[in-house]
Amino acid sequence: MKKIIIAIDGYSATGKSTLAKGLARKLGYIYVDSGAMYRAVAYYAMKNHLIKEGRILVDELLKALTKLDIQFVFNPETYSSETYLNGENIERIIRTPEVSDVVSKISSIKEVRRFLVEKQREYGKNKGIVMDGRDIGTNVFPDAELKLFVITDLDVRVKRRLDELHSKGIYATEDEVKKNLLERDYLDIHRKENPLVQAKDAIVLDTTDLDRDQQLEYVLKLIQDLKLLENHSVQ
Ligand code: DC
Repeated sequence: MKKIIIAIDGYSATGKSTLAKGLARKLGYIYVDSGAMYRAVAYYAMKNHLIKEGRILVDELLKALTKLDIQFVFNPETYSSETYLNGENIERIIRTPEVSDVVSKISSIKEVRRFLVEKQREYGKNKGIVMDGRDIGTNVFPDAELKLFVITDLDVRVKRRLDELHSKGIYATEDEVKKNLLERDYLDIHRKENPLVQAKDAIVLDTTDLDRDQQLEYVLKLIQDLKLLENHSVQ
């Protein structure tokens, strides 16, 4: 069967990663959470005191980039892949509000993006991959066979992000989460380098009223209807 690249973009907390994981599992594909890679760099900068009074020491961070070994390791207990930085499991810590607060700034640094985009393309070189993020369909894999742009009402996004944080044992208030999501939306849309925009050939998926099974079912049907896994696909 033909292997394809599935690029999933959209605002944060729209359910992209849940959908991407579900698709990867169903299709036997690799799943790459590109946001976790930006979060890993943000965490590294925090841990190594490369952020002083809210200012990122960009030159020092760029010098350190090649020292960052970011890996995704499958955990059979949780049945999902977890993010590691230089051998340390950082899956939980990179989701904390502290990291969320600085990650947009980190992801707007051109050189950080170039460094991570190169790695992301490397993951996709044999296809058979689902990647979610902000610029996957527009920049990382502009030729992806399937591009989805996921949207969801803000209140539903806040609730989903709160549930996700609580399930990881991280405490945050509704107001904090809403404020952080809105700030990140703004920065994602307005950054100079590869901002969040819908690719012209992306299919919009509104997940407001769809639970995770319905989203998955919808996309699997789409893949089938578009004959994307057949050797001579009609798109
Ligand atoms: O998907 P997420 O919320 O974990 O992403 C974390 C941050 O990284 C988010 O603020 C936007 C940024 N990001 C990006 O700029 N490009 C991507 N491909 C993925 C994430």
